[in-house]
Amino acid sequence: MLSIIIMKHLLSNSTLYFHVTKAVSPVRLNQFRKLQAFNLTQSYSTCTPSVHSFIFNQHCNETVKSSILSNMLVYNNFLSVEEEQSLLQEINLFIKRQRYEYDHWDDAIHGFRETERGKWNDANTKIIERVQNLAFTSNVTPIQYVHVLDLEEKGYIKAHVDSVRFCGNTIAGLSLLSDSVMKLVDEETKTQEVHVLLKQRSLYVMKDSARYKFTHEVLESEKSYFGDLVVPRGRRISVICRNTPDPSLVDSGNDSSNNNPYSR
Ligand code: OGA
Ligand code: MN
Repeated sequence: MLSIIIMKHLLSNSTLYFHVTKAVSPVRLNQFRKLQAFNLTQSYSTCTPSVHSFIFNQHCNETVKSSILSNMLVYNNFLSVEEEQSLLQEINLFIKRQRYEYDHWDDAIHGFRETERGKWNDANTKIIERVQNLAFTSNVTPIQYVHVLDLEEKGYIKAHVDSVRFCGNTIAGLSLLSDSVMKLVDEETKTQEVHVLLKQRSLYVMKDSARYKFTHEVLESEKSYFGDLVVPRGRRISVICRNTPDPSLVDSGNDSSNNNPYSR
């Protein structure tokens, strides 16, 4: 029989679930300690992007590293526990009627349901505005509809670049319910890889070169590693704000997305 041990992390309020047989195995305990050490090195100011949320492979030189660090920003603890709950409550109301899909037409996403939302309750509107104010510079127009993507525990998103015909230079995503790992791969060389730890309640802002030159994917449960650290994947809901596309790219012929806004 499997039992579940729940370890509450005091500093970050994050909960780690380990499936263990009777006692916590040394390996799991070690993983917990590493994640704890990771948390301790975190900046808890929600206005300061984390520099600890990235693992670059050996093909990434200093130029690639600094370009990713300035174009893929991760804000840990962007949401408080209460704000996460508030979003989840509203999301559950409108998403619970939908069924999870497993065979997306272009096979890029598995085990998901999704919707777009233009209107939120007052408390959640404030949260969305906080995301948009941080993510978008004053010269861009946010898309009014916010994308809500619910990935079940076994769900995952394969490597893709969001369609340049439907989405501008910035993609800002809140992660609810579960930690996860996002992998970025240089689309041209396919050699430079970056693993990004997206903690529950974090916000990432992916823009410019990180958004256009790298594919992004959310790893499935079995591949959910950050270095040698297992990142347990549960059901994960992301709330994603985008800005309107650059008009000069709307008619671009080299976007194979057809009519799929997310080009997955
Ligand atoms: C997408 C996507 C990432 C996320 O919907 O195009 O890449 O954080 N989502 O859910
Ligand atoms: Mn995407």
